[in-house]
Order: sequence, then structure tokens, then C-alpha cells
Amino acid sequence: MLIDQFGRKIDYVRISVTDRCDLRCTYCIPKGFKGFEVNKNWLTFDEIIRVVSAFSAMGTDHYRITGGEPLLRKDVTELIRHIKEIPTIKDLSMTTNATQLEKHAKGLKAAGLDRLNISLDSINPLTVHQITGNDCIEKVKQGIFAAKDAGFETIKINMVPMIGVNDKDIDAMIKFCMDNGLILRLIEAMPMGSTGQNTEGEDLTILLESLRHKYGLIDSTKSLGQGPAKYYESPDGSFTFGLITPMSQHFCDACNRVRMSVDGTLYMCLGQEEAFPLREMLRDNCTDEELQTAIRKAVDLKPHKHEFTTDATKIQRIMSMTGG
Ligand code: 5AD
Ligand code: SF4
Repeated sequence: MLIDQFGRKIDYVRISVTDRCDLRCTYCIPKGFKGFEVNKNWLTFDEIIRVVSAFSAMGTDHYRITGGEPLLRKDVTELIRHIKEIPTIKDLSMTTNATQLEKHAKGLKAAGLDRLNISLDSINPLTVHQITGNDCIEKVKQGIFAAKDAGFETIKINMVPMIGVNDKDIDAMIKFCMDNGLILRLIEAMPMGSTGQNTEGEDLTILLESLRHKYGLIDSTKSLGQGPAKYYESPDGSFTFGLITPMSQHFCDACNRVRMSVDGTLYMCLGQEEAFPLREMLRDNCTDEELQTAIRKAVDLKPHKHEFTTDATKIQRIMSMTGG
């Protein structure tokens, strides 16, 4: 089992398969960004599977495929299939912007993907364009519907509410999610890179009080995934709603995860620099034992908490470099 210096059990790895994206969400990738990783440094699927196998041998049984936009990585469905062949893996999920999901949904389900989270910050086409720089709303909706048709249950929609941008769309998003049996999750913007630092996210601890009042939300006891979200539901249980509050109420004490970027670097925290590179040793044909030792060393580096609220310009890395 992997336990860090602060006694936290690390049983969840988020794996980025690309740092590229077809969208340019204002809080995430800067317009005209040129710093993407070169292809030769991307971990191959075989290398990713070696890392997953090493983590699995140490008891980590939850994984998420992220990016950038993971569906841009060629044949990512094959990677999913191979990861699911590792018998100890309990849960494999993906976070996607859904622009390419319509054509991939069935294949992902057939490959064994357990769960999908979809990023969507508004249901208003103009606002979506304003945030993503792209007229993608119809494609995203088709992707969501295709995922439902393919049999994905409890699809989560991630929305980052920003003051004066899409905060006015929260009610419409609640309605869209209610009507379509989706779980809406609001996420506080984190100051990652210049884009994150220039974003004025909503304080969701404050927003919760008005939403509680308006929708009669009650605390939910449902167990929904591995993350730090707190869930609420409508009195009849028909609608579930989650909040992720890294800024207003951080949850670092319960952190159970590490992230691997596309170039095979393990990042220990979104809001800190501690990292451990695995690519070189993988390419030098390290043994399984050496790989496991390296992962333990990496986990020993995991910091206690982020400093987003006290040192907001610390992290120059944008989210897609780390893996969202
Ligand atoms: N703050 C919070 N969430 C972010 N994401 C990207 N950048 C940020 C940020 N600065 C989220 C997106 C998406 C996931 C991949 O990462 O909303 O859901
Ligand atoms: Fe964990 Fe870092 Fe996220 Fe805090 S900010 S919850 S320590 S990854």
C-alpha cells in the first residue's frame, strides 16, 4: 500500500495521455500557447501500462485518464482496454470535453471504461464560445447524449463558475442536468498558470447557501467516486449536485491522488512543484522493483497542502501540463 508522510493513502492515479486540447478554456490554456510537449517525450501506451501495473502492484486500484483532451490521443480506447485487463483495477474513468465523444462513446464503454466526467461551463452557446473559443456546444451535447446511449451511468458534468462570465448560467445548467439525469459539479477555479491566475472564480461555499435555499438541497450520503466533491441532492433524490472547493475549503488532508503528465512525470500536488520523472528510467529498461521504488520515493515527496490562497502566483504550470 502507498502511504505518504502525512498518513494519506494514495490509491488514485490520474494519467494524462496528452497535454493538447481542441479548446482553449480561458482558465486553462493561454491563447497562442506554444509550450506543448514534443511527441518523442510522450509516454507510449506500453510505458503507461507499466506504470499502472507498478502502482497496481502496490494496491492502487483507481485510475482516471485525463489531458488536455484525452480523446485527441490516437487509439486511446486501446489503452483503456489494456488497463482494464489488469485484474486488480476496480475503477477506470475519463475526463473529457466531449467534443469527440459522439464517435467514441460506444467504443469506450465496450473497452471497459467505468465512468465519464465531462467539462461544460455553460449551456448557452455564446458563453461556451466566450469561454472555450469554439462553437462546440452542439458537439458536446451530442457527445453527452451518445455517452448516455452507450450505457454510461452517473455522468458528471464539471463546470467552473466565473464571476461575470457564466455564473448567470448556473440555473440553466442545473435544469439541463436535471432534465438529462446528469450530476452537475461546480469547481472553484485554481490559480494555475497565468490563465488560472487571471480567472475570478466564484466562492462556492458562499454560493451553496443560496442554492440550498432555492432548490431545497439536502446533504447527500451517496458515494460517488474517489474525489473531494461534497454532494447535495433535491428532497426527492432526483437530482444530485456536487461542489469542489479547493479555494474556499481545501480538502488536502483527505487527498488520495497523484498525477502523471504526458511526459511521464509524477506530480504530487496541483498546487506545488514536487515531481518525480519516470520516463528516463522506463526507457533505460528499469526493473519492476526499481519502478516501484521510484514511485514510493515520489509519494514521499507529496506535500501537505497547496498554497493557492496564500501564494497565488506560485504555480506557473497550467492544468493541461499536469493533467486535469
Ligand atoms: N481551475 C480549476 N479547474 C480547472 N480545469 C482546468 N484548469 C482549471 C483551473 N485553473 C479543469 C477543467 C476540466 C478539468 C480537466 O480541469 O474544468 O474539468
Ligand atoms: Fe491534494 Fe494538492 Fe489537490 Fe490539495 S491541492 S487536494 S494536496 S493534489
